[in-house]
Amino acid sequence: MSTIANGRVVKIDATEAEAAPGVIAVLHRGNTPPLYRSTNDFEAQTTVGEVRPPFEDDRVYYAGQFVALVVAKTFEQARDASSLVKVTYEEEKPQVNWTDNPKIEPQDEARRGNPEEAFAHAEVLHEATYLTPDETHNPIEMHGAVARWEGDRLTIYSSTQGVIFERNALAMVLGVPVDRVTVLSPFLGSGFGGKLFLWPHTVLAAVAAKQLNRPVKLSVTRAMMFTTVGHRPSTKQSIKLAATKDGQLTAIQHDTICYTSFTDNYLEDCGTTTKALYTTKNLHVAHAIARVNRGTPTAMRAPGSAPGLYALESAMDELAIKLNMDPVELRLKNIAEIEQDTGKPWSSNHLHECLQVGAEKFGWSKRNPRPGSMRKTGGDGDTIIGWGVGACSWPADRMPCSARVEFRADGTVRASCATQDIGTGTYTVIAQVVAYLTGLPLEKIDVKLGDTTLPPGPISGGSWVTASAAPAVAEATRDALKRLIATAVDKQGPLAGAEAKSVEMKNGNLAAGGKEVSFAAVLSSKRLAGIAGESNSSLGDAANKFAFRSFGAHFIEVEWEPAIARLRVARCVSVLDGGRIINPKTARNQIAGAIVMGVGMAMFEETRFDQRSGRPINSNFADYVVSTNADTPQMDIAFLDYPDLHLNEFGARGIGEIGLTGLAASVANAVYHATGKRVRDLPITMEKLMA
Ligand code: MOS
Repeated sequence: MSTIANGRVVKIDATEAEAAPGVIAVLHRGNTPPLYRSTNDFEAQTTVGEVRPPFEDDRVYYAGQFVALVVAKTFEQARDASSLVKVTYEEEKPQVNWTDNPKIEPQDEARRGNPEEAFAHAEVLHEATYLTPDETHNPIEMHGAVARWEGDRLTIYSSTQGVIFERNALAMVLGVPVDRVTVLSPFLGSGFGGKLFLWPHTVLAAVAAKQLNRPVKLSVTRAMMFTTVGHRPSTKQSIKLAATKDGQLTAIQHDTICYTSFTDNYLEDCGTTTKALYTTKNLHVAHAIARVNRGTPTAMRAPGSAPGLYALESAMDELAIKLNMDPVELRLKNIAEIEQDTGKPWSSNHLHECLQVGAEKFGWSKRNPRPGSMRKTGGDGDTIIGWGVGACSWPADRMPCSARVEFRADGTVRASCATQDIGTGTYTVIAQVVAYLTGLPLEKIDVKLGDTTLPPGPISGGSWVTASAAPAVAEATRDALKRLIATAVDKQGPLAGAEAKSVEMKNGNLAAGGKEVSFAAVLSSKRLAGIAGESNSSLGDAANKFAFRSFGAHFIEVEWEPAIARLRVARCVSVLDGGRIINPKTARNQIAGAIVMGVGMAMFEETRFDQRSGRPINSNFADYVVSTNADTPQMDIAFLDYPDLHLNEFGARGIGEIGLTGLAASVANAVYHATGKRVRDLPITMEKLMA
């Protein structure tokens, strides 16, 4: 990896590395064929993490950029030899921080009404700037890829959240036909967005395997994960809120500057949820980018909305204080009854109930609003408690999805789709759908995911897999059943004479006219190995009629011991409106995980850079602090469970991301209530509270 953050590679001397034990080759720009670029187009499913392919030119845009690849017999030998590669650079001064680059490049802008006039005549005004730091995805399983060529066919075993996207983009970068590339990702040790798109290491694994004519495994170390596989970029958000004296919002302004790389235009769209959550006649939401010498940022769990709602929901708390109004009350008063941007009605919006049920469960009515006024019950009197609230929201999307479901002669059903399970429970949920429609026990249902040879499915991102794959699998199941029943009732079939529409599925068997027969018997009567059905499912016309979003509310209790500057998140009550919950256990796990991650976002997570070199300082799991069990609050998680039947037949939405939105703000608001100190830059560290 490059040790400089900005400049040029002048020379690579690999002599010593090539002579090291076990080394097979040292690859770099001078001895590998040129690569192409991907069109990097989401609609065409060719999105990449970093559009510049590795080794494209001699430029270095960030510290940690790949400049050479050592392939050896063992991983340890490769790592050892990589330290012997001598790279000579021509270094230029890097732009390490946003303060170093005054050049702001405006991106999108949205306006309603006349916000300038509304601010000029505001009865009550709140204006502040909120900062969020770079955060690095740290799934337990790091990135890696194994590449294997057989003639002109490439197989990639990869830890990716999107096999189809990775296949399409990789084929473009290598300049090979897409039908020659297979990507397999049957299981992932999570990803959080860092594994959504193709990153340079996978490209290099394919290049090396081709060049050396042998399979190559490329592992990205924890340190490398801080530079070349994306991160959540730092943001600077300016918020302005105007309200009448009785707490009706009259104008909202939310301007975001996102710090991105010199090679790509990744934007953290912090203001998107701001356009939708609360009602206001006058609004201005804009995004801009400024470039720094860091690797390209990417989506990280609830991209845009996680930092965006930290700012907005902190600002709402500050406005409530100025209005001398309860912050739950202020939110209830301003909930958007329609999606104002488009004028479309919500398919289903129960934010009111989330706030009310949450307040009730939490005991919010006992809150004394004066900062520092509440003490821990049963404590020694020195521990102050603070209570804070924050709203959550995340789009409820459904992507086009195909699936194949096959009834097999061995009595099992095989359901397949080229989507993935990143640890959220996709295998389980798909099996549940088949079980629901057939009455078969789960152990008879074999789910196949994470393989580009299967019917195309969406990336495991955006919290849309359940809402997209569940209806696709249901449609394919019904299609297969229709064919199976037709076979059962025809002349030689075991249910000959029965009418197709009278046949029902009972415990996995076909039943008609008092007769019950297993589907395996139907298949064997015709000497068939299986009967399959397929689907091609999408949201369709509902997209034009309704706005789809999930909502929720977090209520937080922090404990603050001022004598030792000790802050803890003690309790969290979360109420979510995430459509019908298909599996309460996997669903609760998603929200619990998001709360744990949110505590980290609020109090710990921050990738720090050396001000001289632009290199990350804490690029390891010891110094990059995330929440541990000891930091985990007592959690009370509730789902309202209203089915969103306009989204799909089950009324199910995804809930992988929403739990992280609003969490850091509710902690910051509770911290203000405990300490009287408003922290407007994350993370809320003890130094900031002592200052
Ligand atoms: Mo999520 S950031 O779309 O993996």
